[in-house]
Amino acid sequence: MAVSTSAAPGLPSFDQRDFRNALGSFATGVTVVTTVDASGRRYAMTVNSFAAVSLSPPLVLWSVSRGSPSAGAFLAATHFAINVLAADQVALSRHFARSSEDKFAAIATLDGVAGLPLIAGAAAVFQCRTEAIHPGGDHEVILGRVERYDHSHREPLVFCRGRYQRGVNVEIAADRDADVAAAWGGLA
Ligand SMILES: Cc1cc2nc3c(=O)[nH]c(=O)nc-3n(C[C@H](O)[C@H](O)[C@H](O)COP(=O)(O)O)c2cc1C
Repeated sequence: MAVSTSAAPGLPSFDQRDFRNALGSFATGVTVVTTVDASGRRYAMTVNSFAAVSLSPPLVLWSVSRGSPSAGAFLAATHFAINVLAADQVALSRHFARSSEDKFAAIATLDGVAGLPLIAGAAAVFQCRTEAIHPGGDHEVILGRVERYDHSHREPLVFCRGRYQRGVNVEIAADRDADVAAAWGGLA
């Protein structure tokens, strides 16, 4: 296996671009995280740092860059929604990954708890109450308690090595599926 070993962060030869490329080997889904402030202004950003944390209580997390224009709104929010994008929503991912004054002009939304804007056609949606916020270097890690969720059979969008992709099924026998479910503590 061709593996290039690189210096750990903090050492003089640390290459941030190379570190980012290495992290990009971890395939993720793509979400748009949304919220609304007390004046009714809506915020949204494309996020792939989303992760499941706990089944009981139901907790999820994502991390927001401290430098993002929308960060303050998310850090002050009591609620936020994780909209897991479907494979045919690449344009929405690109749209919400660019700063703009009103990202919701011409975007179809549904109403969620506490006035949250939800993205129509998403593969899944998790509506959360902000549970805790932890410092994470140049990001803040936001932990949410899921109050409501929805999911559909829409194929989810995949992001890996800087590219949008579709998931490819790797054929596995039924008994292997059971192994995966058991190993993943029932989250599968
Ligand atoms: C696939 C993808 C994943 C991203 N994931 C994150 C993330 O997890 N956290 C984050 O702060 N920004 C992430 N971004 C960048 C933000 O979407 C981008 O900076 C956006 O402009 C932030 O919204 P704002 O400009 O309204 O603050 C991601 C962008 C893309 C394209």
